[in-house]
This record gives sequence, structure tokens and C-alpha cells, in this order.
Amino acid sequence: MKTVLVTGAAGFIGYHMSKLLCDLGYKTIGVDSIDDYYAQSLKNDRIKQLEPLANFTFYNIDISNKEEFDKIFKDNDITIVINLAAQAGVRYSIQNPYKYIDSNISGFLNVLEACRNNNIEHLIFASSSSVYGANSKIPFNPDDRTDHPISLYAATKKANEAMAHSYATLYGIPMTGLRFFTVYGPWGRPDMAYFLFTDSIINEKPMKLFNNGDMMRDFTYVDDIVKTISLLIDKAPVARPELKGKELHTSESFAPYSLYNIGNNKPVNIKEFVSILEELIGKKAIIENAPMQQGDMYETYADIDKLIAKTGHEPSVNIRTGLKEFVDWYKSYYNVN
Ligand SMILES: NC(=O)c1ccc[n+]([C@@H]2O[C@H](COP(=O)([O-])OP(=O)(O)OC[C@H]3O[C@@H](n4cnc5c(N)ncnc54)[C@H](O)[C@@H]3O)[C@@H](O)[C@H]2O)c1
Repeated sequence: MKTVLVTGAAGFIGYHMSKLLCDLGYKTIGVDSIDDYYAQSLKNDRIKQLEPLANFTFYNIDISNKEEFDKIFKDNDITIVINLAAQAGVRYSIQNPYKYIDSNISGFLNVLEACRNNNIEHLIFASSSSVYGANSKIPFNPDDRTDHPISLYAATKKANEAMAHSYATLYGIPMTGLRFFTVYGPWGRPDMAYFLFTDSIINEKPMKLFNNGDMMRDFTYVDDIVKTISLLIDKAPVARPELKGKELHTSESFAPYSLYNIGNNKPVNIKEFVSILEELIGKKAIIENAPMQQGDMYETYADIDKLIAKTGHEPSVNIRTGLKEFVDWYKSYYNVN
């Protein structure tokens, strides 16, 4: 079986990705700096779940440290790279812009250089629905232009897509970019709305509802995300020299490069989302309405036809089922009766 490097393995999606790869029999190398953006204890607990797996190895390394990162490639016969490490979060990027450049730009350049120097067969990397920024046409299609990012986080993700395309062109390294749409599920991210809402409702604390809850999000269950990524591993894009010099759609290329949305294709209104959580938890939320936040988008909605055609997999977990899984995990992790 191939050896897969997963960056951001102590993170929410990276943890689920690593676990699935180990279950599928891949030798899995996890890398993470366990940064303090949110509870390091949660990141360490995720790694504790992975470490007993026979085919999992973990490196506590910052991907922006080129020397240490390169050494992992020297010591292991890596053929596939899944880059999930990043400074995530839209609102945090307004206060901490430099962290985004270190991890998402300098760190990502190290990933690209390592792919170039180690004959990597396929790099799959995380982009984000936030690249659609101020676009008003919905659903968002990977062929839509993405020229108007409204947060630095979104700008770094858009930069990743452009950087990856340049390396796919220059060095022929197959690359697939995935624009994730609001991923949720067990072992999730404490900075995200679904986690904050659950925490507030269970602990009877007031919670802020931005834009009075008048927003739509295409919530995507984490199992659907990692299953799709696993199906893409052996579907590396190939170069299409016949397209050189032609007028191209945004998501197609003459280089071995593909770009997809990875979402649920069923946006949910945030007020309705809160009602489902209230029902599952059996308590009412204490809501404080607040204005729209800087950098936030009104609606996200993924057109995923292109991805389904490639993988044959359609997201199958609906919001109620997925949220129940999350609430059950939350209660057991935090010992709530
Ligand atoms: N969760 C979502 O809804 C969502 C949506 C769009 C895009 N994404 C992208 O998906 C990827 C995974 O997101 P997630 O939700 O699992 O976030 P996460 O914050 O839980 O995971 C990211 C992990 O990367 C690690 N990390 C950050 N900088 C690093 C560095 N320089 N070196 C090594 N490790 C580093 C962090 O410690 C963290 O464990 C990210 O690239 C994120 O931008 C996520």
C-alpha cells in the first residue's frame, strides 16, 4: 500500500482523514504543529486516538520549518500528500494576519517544494468555499470567477490554488484542490458555530447569532469529506496539452491540475440549524442577536456535480443525523449527562 502524508493530522479533518487511511490500509504519516488556535488538549486527544493504530506515525512539526519538514520525506517513502494544515478561521484572520502567511503561504510553499523534490504522485490540498467571497450567483460553481475575496484567510486559500497550478504546470506534479464547505462532525472545531452553539445550549449560556441568524451554510458531514478524498487518491489529474492556448474555464487546465467543490449541496438556514440543535439537546438557546461580522458571507452553496462525476460518491449524511452524531460525541467527550 502507498504511504500518505497528512499535514494537519491533529486537526479536525486531518484526524478523520488519518483514521480512514489507516482503516483502508495505507501507511499514514501525520504532521501537525499542535498550535494553540484552539484547545491543544483536543488536538492531543485526537492524536492519542490515532497513535495505537499500527500503520500511523506522527511528527510534531511546523510545516513552515523547511528543514524539519523535508526530513520527513527523507525518512519515509511518501508518494501521496494531503495538505490540511493551515491557519483556519475567517474572523481570526482579521486580528492575526501574519499567522496566515506563515502557515498557509510559506508552509504551503514548503509542501509544494517537497512534492517537487520527492516525485510525489498526487498532492490533494484544502482550499475553501470562502474563495467565492462576494460572489452573488448561487450555487457556487468551480468554474465561477473568484476575484473578490473578503478575508485574508480566503485570499491565502485562493493563493494556494494559484501556487499549486504553477507547480503543476512547471513540474508536472498532479494536484487536486478541494474547496471545503463548512465541515462538521464529532471531534470538531471549537471555534466553529455548530460547536459554539452546542456548547452554549448545553451549558445554558447566551450565544451570539450573527445577522440575526439570517444566513445559509452548506454544512458538510466530515465522513462525506474524508470518504471523497480517499476516492480521489488514485484519480490524479493528467496533463491535457491539447488545451494549451485555448480559452479555459477556471477549473480546467492543460496542467495536471483539478479543482472541485466539496460540499453537501443543501444549504441550511442558521435559525433552522439552531432549532434542530435545540431539539436534539432538549434545551432552548439563549439568543443574542448581533450584526453581520466582517469577512462573513451571507450564503454558501456548493455545486458538486463535477466532483460526483469524478468520484461517483454523493454526500449521504443529512444535517439532523450528522448533528446527532456531533451532539452525542460532545456529551461523551465533555462528560455531559
Ligand atoms: N472545517 C471547515 O469547515 C473547513 C472549511 C474550509 C476549509 N477548511 C480547510 O481544511 C483544512 C483542515 O481544517 P480543519 O477544520 O481540520 O482545521 P483545524 O484547525 O482543526 O486543523 C488544522 C491543523 O493544522 C495545524 N497547523 C496549522 N498550522 C500549521 C503549521 N504551520 N504546521 C503544521 N501544522 C499546522 C493545526 O495545529 C491544526 O491541528 C484547513 O486547511 C482549513 O483551512 C476547513
